[in-house]
Amino acid sequence: MITVNNLGVQFGKRILFQDVNMVFNPGNCYGIIGANGAGKSTFLKLLYGEVTNTKGTVSFGPGERLSVLKQNHSEFDELPVLTTVMMGHAELWGVMNEKDAIYSKTDFSEADGIRASELEEKFAGMDGWNAESDAASLLSGLGIKEHLHNKLMKDLNGKDKVKVLLAQALFGKPDNLLLDEPTNDLDLDTVNWLEGYLANFDNTVLVVSHDRHFLDSICTHIVDIDFGRIQQFPGNYTFWYESSQLALRQQQAQNKKAEDRKKELQEFIARFSANASKSKQTTSRKKMIEKLNIEEIKPSTRKYPGIIFTPDREPGNSILDVKGLSKSVDGELLFKDLSFTMQKDDKIIFLSRDTRAMTTFFEIIKGHIPADNAHLNGDKRLLKYTCHLNTKNCSKPTST
Ligand SMILES: Nc1ncnc2c1ncn2[C@@H]1O[C@H](COP(=O)(O)OP(=O)(O)OP(=O)(O)O)[C@@H](O)[C@H]1O
Ligand SMILES: [Mg+2]
Repeated sequence: MITVNNLGVQFGKRILFQDVNMVFNPGNCYGIIGANGAGKSTFLKLLYGEVTNTKGTVSFGPGERLSVLKQNHSEFDELPVLTTVMMGHAELWGVMNEKDAIYSKTDFSEADGIRASELEEKFAGMDGWNAESDAASLLSGLGIKEHLHNKLMKDLNGKDKVKVLLAQALFGKPDNLLLDEPTNDLDLDTVNWLEGYLANFDNTVLVVSHDRHFLDSICTHIVDIDFGRIQQFPGNYTFWYESSQLALRQQQAQNKKAEDRKKELQEFIARFSANASKSKQTTSRKKMIEKLNIEEIKPSTRKYPGIIFTPDREPGNSILDVKGLSKSVDGELLFKDLSFTMQKDDKIIFLSRDTRAMTTFFEIIKGHIPADNAHLNGDKRLLKYTCHLNTKNCSKPTST
């Protein structure tokens, strides 16, 4: 449990937020949302003490452990992967080290014996005997193969390092877990694994994310940071969005009777719960919405930014026609016989387990490198307008 009282932070003259009073309870997962620069990361940093120039207080339940997803990817470079994961439980890690140091002494005293037995008791209490196998199973769940578990962190590629740091944050089931944009750099399979893990995690989780689907599958509450205000709402992202918009419409329709409003909100909750229970993750968290008090639904004052693409001219119906596209690099086949058509207004997601195949495919589409064999027809000007999701960089259209 995390309790914040009168929390506020200011950088220079800019007040990010002030007078925040909020409780984060076990069993709930809070999705922190807000525009870029709204203060989401700063809010988490206040909770784990990295930002200290604040007003107010932050407190945790007695004896509770806090765990944070580390952002510095090279912090553990000189350490083995399994060790890095186990270091996520600092107290257990300290006990393991102190125990090892005592047992490796040549002049083992009576006092050492007493201390060692204290440490053994602590170690057993923290399920220390299963620490290594728990760490290994977390790593395997995240897709880190066993032959990498004893390698040094610096020998891993960037994406695998991120997974190890995630395993470190989850290790030992912390009472309070803080994750800042955990799905960045994760592949789809790992995101699915994390969704399943967090949906069934019964301690307190606060997660910053811009990914609506991810928030929908894990969150019981939404915390919105907008124009210096922090507000907490019950429900996952879609529930929060639709219910708070409904409440806003009701507020604007002033002649609507209180009874009618209540009935409309109750019907909305019932419809939403019925749909939620059809999804494959049927956790007790979903049931929370059924128990919701309609007074908890508040109109949202959130402002929505928009990204509006205005093409120089209307595209034709046929955007791209690909037939039998194949490509090998240095004798290795990346893909073959790729055929599809793309029409105006189509939205297509390309998935690949091999990032080289994906990059090469787009380089071919953009005309930067040739295919081995292909029939490729398309509107070149439109195809050169590429947007790289997750990198926050959109390339400008190049004129042809
Ligand atoms: N130590 C600091 N000193 C001065 N300004 C800071 C400091 N840390 C953050 N800021 C500013 O505070 C604001 C909030 O930053 P923060 O990183 O919390 O945003 P965010 O909501 O996490 O954004 P994003 O979605 O881009 O990650 C930004 O304008 C940032 O430049
Ligand atoms: Mg941030």
